[in-house]
Amino acid sequence: GSKKCDSRGALIVLEGLDRCGKTSQCSRLLSSLEKSGHAVESWRFPDRNTGVGQMISSYLANDSHLDDRAIHLLFSANRWEKRSLMESKLRSGTTLIVDRYSFSGVAFSSAKGLDMEWCKAPEIGLLAPDLVVYLEISPEQAAERGGYGGERYEKLEFQKRVAESYKTLRDATWKIIDATLPIEDVEKQLREIVMESVLTCGEGKPLSELWP
Ligand code: TYD
Repeated sequence: GSKKCDSRGALIVLEGLDRCGKTSQCSRLLSSLEKSGHAVESWRFPDRNTGVGQMISSYLANDSHLDDRAIHLLFSANRWEKRSLMESKLRSGTTLIVDRYSFSGVAFSSAKGLDMEWCKAPEIGLLAPDLVVYLEISPEQAAERGGYGGERYEKLEFQKRVAESYKTLRDATWKIIDATLPIEDVEKQLREIVMESVLTCGEGKPLSELWP
């Protein structure tokens, strides 16, 4: 219409190998944005609370076996079932900090040998992030951090292939942060990058869809 657009929230995605520190950085970022008065929520994929999410969770715990393509499509369906809520949150001005998204979907499945273009296809039409931050750590250093749980993908050899897939997948728009820096330094860099993106979205940057 002729009225000025209400400002929308930003879709911020954090990606990285298992044990890169994403989850603690997401929660630090959430509190810092909340403190400065922003409407913000923290999300994660897989979202294990839905029916599809429970199937994924059981697969990751090795309690069930699924064909590689079938589990890939479940991870994607898990994002599709949240798409409309995601869009309404963003349009109503809430910034979303999302721990893993379509890039994890493609990186982890293609690390099993699935074709990358095939992996990207079911993500077409999901909301495109305004910002992707990659917390970079070598698979060896991530493994040294310990605390790999017993889940299916938490093995050094597999994480090495995931790292290669992420390298192929990332483009010039991704922001890379050295995840081996002290936790406060990562936090500070992350906050600066994110604030810039939140500002741009508030100024009326339109929402777009994958893959750009
Ligand atoms: P996550 O819940 O982030 O791991 P954690 O339980 O360690 O916090 O993700 C679980 C695993 O699922 C992780 O190894 C990455 C993988 N994954 C995919 O294979 N495809 C996807 O689409 C997503 C979102 C995650």
